[in-house]
Amino acid sequence: MHVDIGNALASVASPGVSRDSLERLDERVANAHERIEAGRADDEHGYAALNLPERADPDEIRSAVDPVADAEALITIGIGGSALGAATIVDALENEGDGTETVFLDNVDPEWVSRRLEGLPLAETAINVVSRSGTTAETLANFLVVREAFESAGVDWTERTIVTTGEAGPLRDLADRHDLPSLRVPDGVPGRFSALSAVGLVAAAVCGHDLEALLAGAQAEADSLSGSLFECPAYAYGATAYALDQRGVGTNAMMPYAESLETYAEWFAQLWAESLGKDELGQTPVRALGVTDQHSQLQLYRAGPRETLVTFVRSRETEDRPIPETDVDDLSYLGDATLGELLEAEFAATEASLAAAGRPNIRLELERVDEYELGGLLYGMEAACVLAGELYEVNAFNQPAVEWAKKATRGLLGGGEFAEAEAVAEKTELR
Ligand code: PA5
Repeated sequence: MHVDIGNALASVASPGVSRDSLERLDERVANAHERIEAGRADDEHGYAALNLPERADPDEIRSAVDPVADAEALITIGIGGSALGAATIVDALENEGDGTETVFLDNVDPEWVSRRLEGLPLAETAINVVSRSGTTAETLANFLVVREAFESAGVDWTERTIVTTGEAGPLRDLADRHDLPSLRVPDGVPGRFSALSAVGLVAAAVCGHDLEALLAGAQAEADSLSGSLFECPAYAYGATAYALDQRGVGTNAMMPYAESLETYAEWFAQLWAESLGKDELGQTPVRALGVTDQHSQLQLYRAGPRETLVTFVRSRETEDRPIPETDVDDLSYLGDATLGELLEAEFAATEASLAAAGRPNIRLELERVDEYELGGLLYGMEAACVLAGELYEVNAFNQPAVEWAKKATRGLLGGGEFAEAEAVAEKTELR
């Protein structure tokens, strides 16, 4: 992953970060790096995620998915960190996979769930159910719905299901009771940092992707972590985004110029929001897509309040396609170009137009969208986020607000005695 922060510097952008202030911040980056390395050495909660490139075991994952490796379709059931990593990998690499149809069930909107299941060849479909806690209501409910759909179709779901969960919990009990192939969410790895574990890699394996290349790309990024933001692309990104936020840039619009990376922007939004949104701090992530959002959000980012960092992601190599010629004179310029050239021109124009208007932006570049580069991007953004957590002095690895809502939901449905549910009940009575 290459990172260019030139358009976030004070000489270009307002608000921007001066070279001097980055040099001062670099002392804090060095301390933060020491803390991160100590956490990695001890496999401490959260920091352990940055060890996944060397700890994940592709052979174990491939062996668990072996019974369904030829599935025509794969339903992944999970939510948040238990779904978005897998969805990012599968969507980004769709063109390189073995053609397995993929369905992700995270939401519990009944109409949407029913539509997703319609027409799937269930006898040839695998189920990948993922929940670190094994207690998340949405995931368990969707799994029960899917299970029943298989039973109604006369298909033995126990032969087609892989479970990924923590050491103990209701989902682990269920896997044991039915003797299902199961994998562990590694200890110390929070959901949104688990893409490079079985949580993200089971779906990648079923779709025929190269797990070793994903992990090698991530390892290369791990090897580049160092005590200076000037030498480490991931830290350059995390530190600059943090420094901009300190200067009033409270929004971070993640804008890949590749349709295949649209889900990555969603994954990033969860990572940044759920990890850094603590103690009334944090930067609001927004999902954008080039070129689509040039025709919507860009107006705000170039001419609205000076509070947005636009993070571009660009792939240096893409498949190309010529634009056919036309006999309409005004359109002849298109016939001399390709779609790839048009995409590139739109990216260059947008980046330059934001810089010309003094709006901070950062460019992340991949050589191409493949397993190796994607592994590097996911790891790099996780490391950037961990660094930002150290700079904000928040715990990037917990999610008390999310847990609050999960307990309230379970309590309201009679799934346990939770103070959170009582608080909701009281609030609704007050209305
Ligand atoms: O990042 C997180 O911790 C969350 O987004 C969780 O992944 C999400 O709530 C799902 O939790 P679980 O994996 O326990 O079902």
